[in-house]
Amino acid sequence: MGRLVTTLLVLCLIYVTTCSLSTRTAAFRAHDLRRGLEQAMRGRLLADATPAGGSAVPIHWSRHLYNVANFTIGTPPQPASAIIDVAGELVWTQCSLCSRCFKQDLPLFVPNASSTFRPEPCGTDACKSIPTSNCSSNMCTYEGTINSKLGGHTLGIVATDTFAIGTATASLGFGCVVASGINTMGGPSGLIGLGRAPSSLVSQMNITKFSYCLTPHDSGKNSRLLLGSSAKLAGGGNSTTTPFVKTSPGDDMSQYYPIQLDGIKAGDAAIALPASGNTVLVQTLAPMSFLVDSAYQALKKAVTKAVGAAPTATPVQPFDLCFPKAGLSNASAPDLVFTFQQGAAALTVPPARYLIDVGEEKGTVCMAILSTSWLNTTALDEHLNILGSLQQENTHFLLDLEKKTLSFEPADCSSLLS
Ligand SMILES: *[C@@H]1O[C@H](CO)[C@@H](O)[C@H](O)[C@H]1NC(C)=O
Ligand SMILES: *[C@@H]1O[C@H](CO)[C@@H](O)[C@H](O)[C@H]1NC(C)=O
Ligand SMILES: *[C@@H]1O[C@H](CO)[C@@H](O)[C@H](O)[C@H]1NC(C)=O
Ligand SMILES: *[C@@H]1O[C@H](CO)[C@@H](O)[C@H](O)[C@H]1NC(C)=O
Ligand SMILES: *[C@@H]1O[C@H](CO)[C@@H](O)[C@H](O)[C@H]1NC(C)=O
Ligand SMILES: *[C@@H]1O[C@H](CO)[C@@H](O)[C@H](O)[C@H]1NC(C)=O
Ligand SMILES: *[C@@H]1O[C@H](CO)[C@@H](O)[C@H](O)[C@H]1NC(C)=O
Repeated sequence: MGRLVTTLLVLCLIYVTTCSLSTRTAAFRAHDLRRGLEQAMRGRLLADATPAGGSAVPIHWSRHLYNVANFTIGTPPQPASAIIDVAGELVWTQCSLCSRCFKQDLPLFVPNASSTFRPEPCGTDACKSIPTSNCSSNMCTYEGTINSKLGGHTLGIVATDTFAIGTATASLGFGCVVASGINTMGGPSGLIGLGRAPSSLVSQMNITKFSYCLTPHDSGKNSRLLLGSSAKLAGGGNSTTTPFVKTSPGDDMSQYYPIQLDGIKAGDAAIALPASGNTVLVQTLAPMSFLVDSAYQALKKAVTKAVGAAPTATPVQPFDLCFPKAGLSNASAPDLVFTFQQGAAALTVPPARYLIDVGEEKGTVCMAILSTSWLNTTALDEHLNILGSLQQENTHFLLDLEKKTLSFEPADCSSLLS
């Protein structure tokens, strides 16, 4: 579990969403790329990308605590694996044309071994609409700087090919990455975005709802992603629903699933989120949650008080609050209850999902929730909270894109049917 640390260090490199929000000029040109891909894909969607009954996709926790799905690309199919991110905008994977790629478990995707691979040609409107595009060998390429301070940089070819993921097959527009500044993702070859951007898997497959249920990361059991009509909760009075925060089309948040976080209860303490910083982004890339600093500081105080043990003098980086395991009795750490929409919806996060064993020699547990100030992006510091995947374990989340709602209920994710 010591790997949590490295996970966080690569977070910003691959997390277009959070790291680009405040870096308007140096940022990855997500908007432009999105527009280009949208045009590239027009007319290429398969009418029935999701089979009747929807598609079930097994996902597993990687050693860096990402949620990873196996799938295939191309004809004949080549195996690939990518991080599933509910807040991701794009579908991308490293390709064999790569001159500088990070290590991945599976061989690189070989485009010219696939009869269905189609690079976006030069000179098309789709290609020209990407300001950072360039042409080589009549292929449309794009370049993105994720966060100049962190050195993140990717270069890719805009292309389409056949993807088989779970029981679904679809022709998808994707980034065939040929150079990147990412050091490693610990195995996976790319990322599959499930956000509301036109270039996400969900948008390209015309899916109106999907659900996912993450098993505890140390259970060794597969989690589930359910696309289309198979996505449903058991209901029966145990599920709660909260609407997406209203966004305007030009707003960055319209690409994701932001909801309103009113407060967090930690034992006796009730922590209110400031009105200017009460949006929380549901995502599955970052294992930890991030809270605006005032809420984070209040939570830190409440948890420290409830636990009753002295925190370790020097927290294990990048964490901010750690306790020696020996001093932490099971009973003293409180459940955290995240409340949405005036308490109409509440997510209970038991200690096991936020006090994480970080695998230090003597035994240390650390709070897997950080202040957004850690990310060093001013937009985030003040406005946006992030719900981490560790805090979502054993909760079944349903995103309804037509109703624009997030519903969830407690579940044993390893025994979820279909
Ligand atoms: C994904 O593929 C790897 C081999 O590449 C395999 O070990 C693993 O079990 C697969 N996981 C799932 C969830 O299918
Ligand atoms: C794929 O392209 C490379 C050059 O880019 C070439 O060397 C190789 O032979 C090609 N492979 C196939 C299967 O066409
Ligand atoms: C496009 O590629 C050429 C040749 O590789 C290079 O000289 C030029 O600077 C590139 N243009 C942009 C906008 O990146
Ligand atoms: C997407 O789905 C909606 C509703 O099922 C349908 O009306 C629409 O035509 C579909 N669009 C495409 C491009 O398949
Ligand atoms: C709702 O939760 C209760 C208590 O956990 C459980 O006994 C019941 O089976 C759940 N109902 C459904 C429909 O899952
Ligand atoms: C805490 O609970 C675990 C099982 O959940 C148990 O193995 C452990 O002994 C408990 N520790 C204390 C201090 O009660
Ligand atoms: C944030 O800034 C501080 C001080 O300016 C620096 O020490 C730290 O490494 C930065 N963190 C990241 C993730 O860039």
